[in-house]
Parts: sequence; structure tokens; C-alpha cells
Amino acid sequence: MSTELIKVTINGQDFQVPKGERLIDVCRENGFGIPSFCYYKDLELQASCRMCLVRIEKMPKLQASCTINCTDGMVVTTQSDEVEKAQRAMGEFLLANHPLDCPVCDRGGECELQEVIFDWGDIEERFTERKNAQPEKYLSPIVANDPQRCILCKRCTRVCDEWMGEEAIEAGNRGVNTVIGTYGGWLNCSQCGNCIEVCPTGTLLDGTYRHETRPWELDQIVSTDPYSSDGMQISIGARNGAVHRIVARDRYVNGLNGEFLDIKARFGHGFVNHPSRIKVPLIRYSKGGNLIPATWDQAIDFIANKFKEAGSVGVVASPRLTNESIFTLRRFAETAGNGSYAVAESFDLAPVFENLSVPLATHQDIRYAKSILLIGGEPEEEQTFTGRQIRQAVNIGKAKLIIVNDTPIRLTQCASQFLHINRGSYDAFALSAIDPDFDRMAAAKAGINANEIEALRNTLFETQGDVVIMLGSELSADAVAAICASASSLAAEGRRVLLHPLAKYNNSVGANDMMPGRRSVMEVINGSKALLIGGSLQDASLLAGKDFVVVQEMFETDTTAFADVVLPASSFAEVDGTYTNNAGNVQRVRKAIDSLYQSKPDWMITASIARELGVDFGYDFSASMIFKAIADSIPAYAGLRYPALKDESNPVQVKHEIKSNISLSTFGSRLKETVAGLSDEENKNNERPRIGHKLHRVTVMTGKTEQFHLLAHGNPKPENLLVSPLVQFNLDGSSKDEGLAEAATVGLNDRATIGVNN
Ligand code: SF4
Ligand code: SF4
Ligand code: FES
Repeated sequence: MSTELIKVTINGQDFQVPKGERLIDVCRENGFGIPSFCYYKDLELQASCRMCLVRIEKMPKLQASCTINCTDGMVVTTQSDEVEKAQRAMGEFLLANHPLDCPVCDRGGECELQEVIFDWGDIEERFTERKNAQPEKYLSPIVANDPQRCILCKRCTRVCDEWMGEEAIEAGNRGVNTVIGTYGGWLNCSQCGNCIEVCPTGTLLDGTYRHETRPWELDQIVSTDPYSSDGMQISIGARNGAVHRIVARDRYVNGLNGEFLDIKARFGHGFVNHPSRIKVPLIRYSKGGNLIPATWDQAIDFIANKFKEAGSVGVVASPRLTNESIFTLRRFAETAGNGSYAVAESFDLAPVFENLSVPLATHQDIRYAKSILLIGGEPEEEQTFTGRQIRQAVNIGKAKLIIVNDTPIRLTQCASQFLHINRGSYDAFALSAIDPDFDRMAAAKAGINANEIEALRNTLFETQGDVVIMLGSELSADAVAAICASASSLAAEGRRVLLHPLAKYNNSVGANDMMPGRRSVMEVINGSKALLIGGSLQDASLLAGKDFVVVQEMFETDTTAFADVVLPASSFAEVDGTYTNNAGNVQRVRKAIDSLYQSKPDWMITASIARELGVDFGYDFSASMIFKAIADSIPAYAGLRYPALKDESNPVQVKHEIKSNISLSTFGSRLKETVAGLSDEENKNNERPRIGHKLHRVTVMTGKTEQFHLLAHGNPKPENLLVSPLVQFNLDGSSKDEGLAEAATVGLNDRATIGVNN
């Protein structure tokens, strides 16, 4: 956008605005409301609803303000009898076929159509023709649809195309018969639900929440996604101790992700109120015996005695826990436990932060980058908001996207260059990144042409603007270190270079920050007779033969099978705290409901055990006190307090140290050795991964939302689209034998039980 300011007069008031700014945005930013349905910032223009009409002097007719860029001296009227009459007429057209069933519509109370029409009041309805009735149906296990409510604004088709790159829904038929539909009558997509979120009416609906509550009955609590390292801001809709839905609607949240979420963030919250939560402390008094329910006092007492006997306690923290809980686990290891500590993480971020030669890229930086180099990773499946920012940067910002990957991931479809390397040959690429003399050797080992590496380098060196380098979790520690350390050498006048590690879990970056000086999980387990584990391990079999293991968990897992004591931990929806995302933004996790059953926040459990061992952390049972302790002892968080994190639209980036003059020699020589040992044989993976192959995985957390099971079992298309697939299929995707009506009743009862169980 131009920095030149021009004069625009709106309703008689003069404003200085940047030249070329879109008129609808300028009017809104200056407090003049303009109704609109099809306009959506940062999506391609649709300009079909004609609701945003305004009068512009010297123009013959009313103009759609979403299509007009401001010019100097423009005189605009947004409010007049003429404008309102035209807008009301458009409203009347939109309602001609609309069922006006607000009292039974899930969107009632937060519907943009309802709001605009109610704001005017006494709307005329002169159409008396029979409405084009169409039944409500399901488009997938997750997306429900009432086609008659559609106003054909095509926000849904545009987000599906532009944000998701999926083009799974489209408008079919013509004229009055136009409907939004799927290809083949069933939605086989990533099921992100963004089409539901941006739909201004109750046409596309959340099939996991349908008819559960009215929106005004919910408490809306802003928090952070417990799945992805993007740190997407969410609004938890809770009532009577149950989480009913999660949205990112910007009327509640105006976080870094706007209205964008993915299937896990939006629909994968069934675990919170799931009846299989661990409800009370459990003790296994002898190895091989059963876990027996106990009181908290009994369990803490039992643990303290065993830990005292052991002398030292190793600690392992899940990168899913809050910063406050991970920090407390570390303090436990250093004081009461007198042992070593580790993070249960398969992508160790230490090589990133120990060799950080340039700042981390925020999601906003990615959207406005001029070149993006994506090495490994699959953001469209794992860090979906990063994936969206890449697509927007390419589609709207015309950024160059260069992908280095051993798999033709979906994002390659919008890449300007794709270096399709041999399986597992990222080290070869990293070697050429630090020393162009190795281009030929690297290219031979990676199964590409040396000219491709040269072309990539030229693109980066010719970039005017930001270059963002992203690193996937499949890269070796040496490759990560080499790329992070050498990134600064690409920077020049007019060209910033920024890094974006594609961390695997919601708090991987925070866990790295909270546990400096940590060991590997293997080292901690091998070196400790007694262990305290917050969460679960990737490989629980490492615990076999350990003397005494305590696990803080929400559910029974492979790890709790080895535990001598299992302590019920609260879910993210029941705790206060923070997560730090892959851009270094530290963001609040807020308690939406009270802790369920007898569960407690992880940090509180760890602090109780420490207190029994004679160490009082002095937290006064408050997460904000722990955050203060974090800020006082971890330099990147210095000076921060919860009030500084209050505004989620302006996330705080922690100050990770930027290193200069990092010596490349150690990992450079190790890389040379590794690359020399790689085979010269061509070894390519040519199969494009299926949409949802990671997003739809059934895990301990996602598996508690029934719809994930059907998706993971191939998303079978049901015979009958009028009732939920959940009542037509078993969760393994096989068809239900019973009659549909009976099955429907059973299904609804089951769901009701889950919903109210607290
Ligand atoms: S759920 Fe997401 S991917 Fe599927 S149709 Fe809607 S926007 Fe497209
Ligand atoms: S389904 Fe919703 S978002 Fe899509 S065109 Fe209809 S009203 Fe617009
Ligand atoms: S908002 Fe301008 S035409 Fe729809």
C-alpha cells in the first residue's frame, strides 16, 4: 500500500488516508458502518451481494464500496435515504428465498444476515412466491448444511480455494437454483471448518455441535490451540462445566489467525469432557498389580516416600504442557528431585536456538514475505496456519515459494521452484547451504541438478523484501544448526532474513525455553531409578524395569501402563498459563471451566509433591506467580507479566538471543562426513500425500471426538445424507446393522452422555 496520503471526505468529514486504500475499509476504520456480505479482507473480490453501496460524488450510480480504491478529493456518502433504500432492496432480495428460521438456526444470535436486517427493522417482504425449499443435510461427518439459508456470497468457496488450496466446495446450478455443493456429493477435504466460520448465515454448520446450545448461552473464553505450534487463538464456548464448541470468530477473538482454524483446533476438543478421563489418583502398590484409586493425600505421601528412598528423580515434560507446568517440572528436578530433566520431543529445537543468527518470522512476516524457502516439513498438515500464510503470500503477495522436500507435498502446487530431493538427503542440501563448493556433491547425493541449487540461491539473493526460511522436523540436528547459523549471510540492504522452525507441538518452543541444559529422554530415563513424567512419552517401552514411575496424565496411555502412580491432570481448558508458538509469541491459555473430577493443573501437582519433599516454590497456587518466576529467570521472557499478554491481537514475541559469528566448522565437518556416506542411487518418493493424512490421525486427544474415527477410516459416504454419518457407521467405518431410526436414537443418547458428563 502506498504511503502517499490523500484527502477523502466521508459524510462531510475530511480524512487523510493512504492512496489506493479500499473505500469500504477506510469507511469502517473511521467509524462509518457499511453492511457487506461477500467482502472479506484478504480474499479475492467477489462483489456480488451489492450491500456495500455508497454514493460517490461525480459518479452516475451508487457504487459498491468494496470495489473502489480511494482517490484524492473523493467525496463519499455512506448514510442517506437513497443508500438505505438500495441496501434494503438488496436485503429483500436476499430474503426472498431464505426460510427465516432464526429460532431453530444454530447461527441465530450471531448471524450477519440477521444482524443487518434487524438493524434496519421493519424490512418489507413483497415476494409471496413459494420458497425454494431444500432439506438440511450433512456434507461430511463434520460439515452440516442447510442450503436454503445461503445468500451466495461465496466466502466459503474462496476460503476453501485461497486459504486451504483445496477447492472442495463450489457453487453449482444457475440463477435461483444455485447452491453451494461438493464434488461427488460428499466432502473429502481436510475438514478445517473455515467455510463454516466465515459463512455469514446458518448455511454451513458445525456438525459436532449442532443443536447443542444457543450461542448466547455460552461463556466465550479466549485461549490458545492445544494442538499446533502455530499458536492459533481460539474462543472456547463453555456452559455448565462442559466445552461445547471452539471457534475463532473475530467477534470474540482477534488473534494472529483471524477466523482461521484447522480441524484439530476447531473440532478436536471432545477429549476435555470425555468420560474416559482419569478421575482420581491411582496407585499400583506392587509391580504387575492393578492401579487402585486413592486420595490425593495418600498418593502424594506414597510418592514422597518412594522419591526419598530413590535419592534422585529424573523428570520428563511433554511439550503439550504450559510453560508454567514445564518450568515447575524443571524446578522440581533441580531442587526437590535432585535429578536431570528432558522434554519428550522428537524434533529437538536446541540446534535452532543455539544457532539463531536471524530473528524468528511471525505469521504476519510470512504473509508479506517476498521469498519463502521451505526445507522439509508439511505445514498444510501440521502447522496449518503457517500453510495458509504461505498460500496467501504466494497468491496475493506474489511471493516466490521454493520447496526442498523428499515428498511432493501439496504446497508444491503453488511453488515457483520444487527441489525434489532423494529420501532423507536433507543433510546434502544443508551442506550446500553453508558451502557452495559442495553444490555438485550435494546435488549428486540429493538426486537433483546442481543448477537447481544455483537457481534457488539466485532467487534468494535477488529478493527485495523479506526472505523467510522454514525448517521441518525431519532435518537432522546438524542440518538445522548449519542452516540457522548461515541464514544471516543471505541478508543485505533491503532484504531481511527470518527463520520459522516448524515445531511439532503447541508448546515445543516454550518447552525448549523452559528447559535449558536438558538431557535427552533416553539419558534421563537411563540415568534415573525414579521418574516424574508430565504427560506421556513417545516410546513408553523405555520405562520397562524402572523402580518407580509417577505420571501426570489426563488419560490412560502406553506411558501410564508403566506407572506406579498416575495423577489426574487437568486439560488445557481447565488451566491458566501460556504457550510459546513457532514464531516465539508467548500467548495466554485461559481457564474456561473448573478442573473436572479430581484433576489438578500439572504445575500444581508437581508443586504439591515438591512441598511434601520439603521444597516450597512459593507459587501461592497461582499460575501468574509462576510466570513471574519464569520472567525473572529466563532472559528471553524478562520483564513479562500476564497483563502484558492481554491483547491477543498484538501477540508478544519473546526475545530469543540472536547470535553472531557462529562457527560452522563443527557441524560443517560432521555434515561432510554424513553426506559422503549417503548413497548416489536415485531414491525418490513420488506419491503426493493424501489430504488429512496427518490431520485426521486418531490420537489419544483427537480420538475422543468421534468424527475423527470416520475420517481416519476413509470418510465413507453414507446412503442417507439427512442424518449424521455417526448414526450410520461404526467408528471403524463399517456400516451399522441396526435400522437407521433406532441407531439415530442410540447415537444421540451417547452424544448427550458425553456432553453432560463432568
Ligand atoms: S471444511 Fe475446509 S477444506 Fe473442507 S470445504 Fe470447508 S473450507 Fe474447504
Ligand atoms: S454457504 Fe454461507 S458462505 Fe457459502 S455462499 Fe452460502 S452464505 Fe455464503
Ligand atoms: S460487499 Fe461489496 S458487493 Fe458484496
